[in-house]
Amino acid sequence: MNPDRRTVLRGALAALGAATVVSPASAAPRTALARLDELAVGVAKAVAWPTPQHPVLLVRLGRPATGGVGEHRDIVAFSQLCTHQGCPVAFVDGRFRCPCHFSQFDPAVEGRCYQGPAHHDLPRVLLEVEGDTVYATGMVGLPWGRTESPA
Ligand code: FES
Repeated sequence: MNPDRRTVLRGALAALGAATVVSPASAAPRTALARLDELAVGVAKAVAWPTPQHPVLLVRLGRPATGGVGEHRDIVAFSQLCTHQGCPVAFVDGRFRCPCHFSQFDPAVEGRCYQGPAHHDLPRVLLEVEGDTVYATGMVGLPWGRTESPA
């Protein structure tokens, strides 16, 4: 017995709904990255998330940031891999700077690339604070070299 057109359409919509619920951000493992008292203003903490192959810089900026968490909404985290050719960026003077070809990214504005040659913003790690701990819950954007989100 072949399913009628209505049954096929219902199945397709159900599958689409399931795909929407399991978005890349929601599929990531919620992981503790640091305690709040480990984060000094202006000092980046290097972590890896969601796998050891994905370096991330977690930083307390000391000023509110788009998407920032914590009491002052100043804690953010980004992939450390430059979106140009994958060199690890450094946190210097409140900005992420790439030592290879000098792209710069603004951590207060979602990792926006404001100086090339990179064309893409740094992928942002979605954070939550619960108690005295900062958790990673997802990632917006693709880390350099990836064709699908690791988180
Ligand atoms: S790898 Fe970062 S600017 Fe080229």
